[in-house]
Amino acid sequence: MVAQNSLSSQTTPASLPPSVFTLPQTAQLEALYTIIRDKSTSRGDFLFYSDRIIRLLVEEGLNHLPVVPKTIETPTGVTYEGVGFEGHICGVSILRAGEAMEAGLREVCRSVRIGKILIQRDEETAQPKLFYSKLPQDIAQRYVLLLDPMLATGGSAMKAVEVIMEHGVPEERIIFINLIASPEGLRNFCTKYPALRVITGWIDQGLNEKSYIVPGLGDFGERRYCS
Ligand code: URA
Repeated sequence: MVAQNSLSSQTTPASLPPSVFTLPQTAQLEALYTIIRDKSTSRGDFLFYSDRIIRLLVEEGLNHLPVVPKTIETPTGVTYEGVGFEGHICGVSILRAGEAMEAGLREVCRSVRIGKILIQRDEETAQPKLFYSKLPQDIAQRYVLLLDPMLATGGSAMKAVEVIMEHGVPEERIIFINLIASPEGLRNFCTKYPALRVITGWIDQGLNEKSYIVPGLGDFGERRYCS
């Protein structure tokens, strides 16, 4: 499979599914990640710098939406052959950590509709289970930006996609956006949903015995919502 990105050799997994796109792995981006990974970073800085990354990810996600030809006239009286956005979008956040990405989406897409999905582990089956969902009523006609900051095993994200597809959204109209992905999670997710694009900021080494991403940043929700 062909790598679609500019990952450094240090972080490039042996093969990357063609539906996976990373942000350009610049020193600037790595500096942002270094701040949010650092356990001594204050909550205020974690919020500020994770928001910067989220904004970059949302912009990259929007780059994957189709456009159609559009002709306009500029104030100089000249006709300009440009493009316009095709179709409508919505965001769907996986609670609770995904909610942290909603503001970044709203900053870029004014009055965007946002749905929510709560998935938790079923203690009996150990499988991800849907506890709550509230999705835009016309979601089947929209492109969906699925928001969850950490792609660890991929279990919650795969369940969320299942729910969204049950509401009539085809796989290829869903774009999953996350800050850090594990190679295992990407492999699981992209094997199940090969036509679904994944935009990630960074691909880490792997998972530890508690299914946390390493080196990772710890529990994103804790870092974001608690001190
Ligand atoms: N969720 C988190 O917040 N962190 C991880 O490392 C994995 C899942």
